[in-house]
Amino acid sequence: MDTFLTSFVLILTCVQCSAQILSPTGKNVCPSVRDSSTICCSGWGQNGDECTVPLCEGERACLQDEVCVYPGLCRCKPGFYGYQCKTSCPPEFWGPDCREVCPCHPHGLCDPVTGVCSCLPNRWGNLCQNSCKCGRHGKCDPVYGNCTCEEGWWTSTCSKACQCHLATSTCDQATGRCLCNKGFWGQRCSLRCNCYVSPCQQHTGTCQCQHGWWGPSCDRRCICNLSHADCDVQTGTCLCYPGYKEPFCNEPCDSGKYGSGCRRSCGHCEGGRSCSKEDGLCDACAPGWNGTRCDQPCPAGYYGYRCHNVCPRCRNMDPCDTETGACLHCDPGWTGPRCEKPCTDGTYGDGCRFLCKTCHHGHCDHVTGSCICLPGFQGESCNSTCPPNLYGMNCSATCDCGNHACHPATGACSRAGLLAGLLIPLCILILALLFCCCCCGRPVEGKEGYEFVI
Ligand SMILES: *[C@@H]1O[C@H](CO)[C@@H](O)[C@H](O)[C@H]1NC(C)=O
Ligand SMILES: *[C@@H]1O[C@H](CO)[C@@H](O)[C@H](O)[C@H]1NC(C)=O
Ligand SMILES: *[C@@H]1O[C@H](CO)[C@@H](O)[C@H](O)[C@H]1NC(C)=O
Ligand SMILES: *[C@@H]1O[C@H](CO)[C@@H](O)[C@H](O)[C@H]1NC(C)=O
Ligand SMILES: *[C@@H]1O[C@H](CO)[C@@H](O)[C@H](O)[C@H]1NC(C)=O
Repeated sequence: MDTFLTSFVLILTCVQCSAQILSPTGKNVCPSVRDSSTICCSGWGQNGDECTVPLCEGERACLQDEVCVYPGLCRCKPGFYGYQCKTSCPPEFWGPDCREVCPCHPHGLCDPVTGVCSCLPNRWGNLCQNSCKCGRHGKCDPVYGNCTCEEGWWTSTCSKACQCHLATSTCDQATGRCLCNKGFWGQRCSLRCNCYVSPCQQHTGTCQCQHGWWGPSCDRRCICNLSHADCDVQTGTCLCYPGYKEPFCNEPCDSGKYGSGCRRSCGHCEGGRSCSKEDGLCDACAPGWNGTRCDQPCPAGYYGYRCHNVCPRCRNMDPCDTETGACLHCDPGWTGPRCEKPCTDGTYGDGCRFLCKTCHHGHCDHVTGSCICLPGFQGESCNSTCPPNLYGMNCSATCDCGNHACHPATGACSRAGLLAGLLIPLCILILALLFCCCCCGRPVEGKEGYEFVI
């Protein structure tokens, strides 16, 4: 029998082993004598990765009303003691064999297993050490000691009777004020509201009409579609929720309208689409408009989708078309939708409306219409060549060819002039070189030597 039990326990332990591996540092965990594994120490059973379950086996097995509290040591179940553990603990004790002292005795009872206190009705605190102050008409919170009053009593100790009409109200425990049930009013809630199905204001008795009713006594039915409207309580007029049409708020707004009673118009949503009928919001704006409702034109100087583009330079820095970016007017001499093209085809000036005069050797300025001459020419119509000795743009440069003329456009000296201009400096250079050779070629002693050589 004994061996049978032992092997049974072993099998059981092994089943548990496979469930969870023992922690080598756990309580009552021993190294195995057979291999490097771990097992529960003798007398202990596994619980999780430790061995904290005491085992009472064989001859030391516990009786029916006993529990094993240590290997081989049986005690009565918690809360019992005595012969065959049939007697329950006196109130000042708890636990197996009633060996633990109950700290809340005599103001509370201890749980036989955990020892936790539960206080008697007039005590509170974790050891029931405090007495309650809730009087005869309140119940004390066992943890905090605050009072829950009986109906009809108030103050923190439930010591005052409420002055409310009990059938038609409840009394606020903190203030003693009466909170009327629906349909009653007055300080003590003793007056009945005269508002048909609606409640009334507690202090004045004024009717507070429920949704769908109007009039001083809230006895007149609204004729609005109540899914989409409130009723003006004084006049009965329908007050449509945003997105619904007056007068009865039965139909949603027409396309392009939004808001309460559809009284507002959508902004400029992208692609001409309608805005949200409730709040007027657009998914995106048409070019030239901005804002969540697309009702703000682009600020001056900007255009296009989300007003992201900067306007071109229009006349007088005028703003451009906020949608296309086109200018209404350009500065004189410029044309095109964005004023980026100079006037062409012999025109100039404001709107390119003027015809240029003939510029024989040059072209017409697109802004002023005056001729801009090619280098070498001058005059109002560029039909005069530069005078001798002058050349270039506007004939503003002076020739550098000695007495000879230069090319009117480039300033290059003519062939004759070129020869003279080149030969004269060349001769001077050669002469200078010769002279140099004569004086510096030989050693020179002094002024006398110089004269002597000559
Ligand atoms: C008592 O006090 C506790 C903690 O302040 C609070 O949670 C609880 O609602 C109170 N009970 C009553 C009846 O006022
Ligand atoms: C209220 O309007 C909805 C449509 O939004 C309609 O289905 C319903 O029948 C209307 N109710 C009445 C009472 O007209
Ligand atoms: C456009 O509107 C948005 C907000 O809706 C704002 O943040 C943004 O600055 C506006 N852009 C311009 C150019 O006004
Ligand atoms: C230049 O042109 C003008 C008019 O077009 C004419 O009167 C003048 O004689 C011309 N001058 C020369 C140097 O060709
Ligand atoms: C030529 O004259 C015009 C008008 O007087 C002036 O605007 C331009 O700058 C001049 N060009 C040069 C290269 O001097």
